[in-house]
Amino acid sequence: MTAPISEHLTDPADAREEGRRKIEWARQHMPILAALREQFEADPPFDGERVGMAMHVEAKTAVLAETLAAGGAEVAITGCNPLSTHDDVSAALDAVEGVTSYARRGVEDDAYYEAMESVIAHEPTVTVDDGGDLVFAIHEEYPDLIEGIVGGCEETTTGVHRLRAMADDGALEYPMFAVNDTPMKRLFDNVHGTGESALSSIAMTTNLSWAGKTVVVAGFGHCGKGVARKASGQNADVVVTEVDSRRALAAHMEGYDVMPMAEAAAEGEVFVTTTGNRDVIVREHFERMGDGVVLANAGHFDVEIDLDALSDLAVDTYEARDGMQAYEMADGRRLHVLAEGRLVNLATPISLGHPIEVMDQSFGVQAVCVRELTERGTEYAAGVHDVPDDLDREVAETKLAAEGIAIDGLTDTQREYMDSWQHGT
Ligand code: NAI
Repeated sequence: MTAPISEHLTDPADAREEGRRKIEWARQHMPILAALREQFEADPPFDGERVGMAMHVEAKTAVLAETLAAGGAEVAITGCNPLSTHDDVSAALDAVEGVTSYARRGVEDDAYYEAMESVIAHEPTVTVDDGGDLVFAIHEEYPDLIEGIVGGCEETTTGVHRLRAMADDGALEYPMFAVNDTPMKRLFDNVHGTGESALSSIAMTTNLSWAGKTVVVAGFGHCGKGVARKASGQNADVVVTEVDSRRALAAHMEGYDVMPMAEAAAEGEVFVTTTGNRDVIVREHFERMGDGVVLANAGHFDVEIDLDALSDLAVDTYEARDGMQAYEMADGRRLHVLAEGRLVNLATPISLGHPIEVMDQSFGVQAVCVRELTERGTEYAAGVHDVPDDLDREVAETKLAAEGIAIDGLTDTQREYMDSWQHGT
């Protein structure tokens, strides 16, 4: 176990002030969480609840944590990736009443898991995960706590895959909402959020333009679609690699070149992996790449680019820029890896993660799911559950109201028409 972040910093007061200002800026652009906070303060739904969180600890996540605390929860939080924590935000969050933050940037694996154990020591009644590490640790190491857990929420595709695999093995022992899979999250966060933030992190870390570049996007799922669309919008030539025939066809119909990675390796100048799978770019691909290429991963874990093979091939490695490691090959070619192959939009030194507005939606869904669990959690069996549609709509309606956007409603005649099967030609 470890101590909260404030006890690890040499000047916690300064860090707290910096972090507090970042959180304040994020809060100003998160109208959904603001509306939910107002609701939670008026009638606290989380009195007596302990929420354990393992997420990317930066300003937007801090607003979610403080919103849950404002609703009466005791919140304990740590990171879900050793490079995505912003220490100043973590320190500011640790100073919020009802919140303890153990997240620290750049810790080794041991300290990463010690911080997770410290969160678990709060004996959470609800868990909020991004990648599934917290749920997994509880099931593996602390099964006695499961009885006291009403349920949890999972933020990302990889985490939901992990949970479904656990459920298929009969190993998942409490209900989990697949927040990732709901429209208000996936159609915005994975597509637009990853597209915008991965590209801006790459551009700022490398200081290179997208215009005229050949950008290889591995995986044409939700994230890949976003990366491809935004790169194309900045005048890059996009090549897509896929293993799923329908996704490959979809990419083809969008006008992108589609080919195997073995071919794309020779053509690409920037490579972005978004598959949630491992070994997507490996030795045979490195061997074909040109001098100067940039390699970035936007999938959850750092397993998409085979860095061990790249290290084996390299005769020299050095930091070419902050957050970018150069691997020099025997023939003089230099291949550049961003953020040690970890989530590029969160783990380079200048990464800010998804835009605030996008995370307001994702975290709005998280907050209403935590509310649902504390109100009706016992009605859900152990396993992975879709977010109830009315909760997803509630978040969409709150956002539309905040944007001042009105939409039409169905008339009774239209509703009757849509629900009937008798109307034909
Ligand atoms: P998805 O399931 O919609 O798409 C993944 C795609 O990759 C699929 O089309 C699949 O066929 C393809 N794929 C799998 N193995 C491949 C291979 N070897 N070569 C080429 N294509 C392959 O998943 P989604 O939602 O796009 O998420 C992808 C990853 O990104 C996950 O790890 C997820 O957790 C992560 N993620 C990252 C975010 C970020 O902030 N960077 C935000 C949201 C999700």
